[in-house]
Amino acid sequence: MLTGPNVILTLKIAVAAVTVLLLAAVLAAMRGNYRLHGRLNLLFFTLTLMAVLGLEVVVRILAPDVFDYINRDNTLRRALNWHLWFSVPSTFILPAMLYTGLKGYVRLHLSLAACFAVLWSGTFITGIFFLPPTPW
Ligand code: HEM
Repeated sequence: MLTGPNVILTLKIAVAAVTVLLLAAVLAAMRGNYRLHGRLNLLFFTLTLMAVLGLEVVVRILAPDVFDYINRDNTLRRALNWHLWFSVPSTFILPAMLYTGLKGYVRLHLSLAACFAVLWSGTFITGIFFLPPTPW
């Protein structure tokens, strides 16, 4: 059923799953396997954008009122705002990560990676631990 808590739970699982891919990709880069890093991150990029697009289709077209209960509750709204401060910039940096990686702009790629690491950590922590429902 397309309810707010179900949408959030699905996204939590998606974020946890793609984070495993991202960690594997960073490990591959640290071991010098840049080709594997690139392939894993192409997958990370595609799956993450599919999740973002899926969410947008749900909240803008299919069920624009699914998150009304969050807007009516100040504590929930604050938790969601914290999450958005990290997740929205993450989404915008992601194409730049892919572009600089593919083009071989290594210094720029690594500078952006520092920002991206902070933003993704924030997305993960606020998304999984601040927003209800928590799966445990
Ligand atoms: C967050 C931490 C990340 C770190 C520390 C990192 C680090 C690196 C390093 C060291 C390289 C090799 C550069 C060279 O050629 O010498 C590289 C390449 C690359 N990175 Fe990243 N990266 C990160 C995230 C990402 C993300 C999020 C993406 C895509 C969404 C990405 C896509 C790529 C691609 C496509 C390449 C080229 C692979 C190849 O040469 O075949 N990276 N990265």
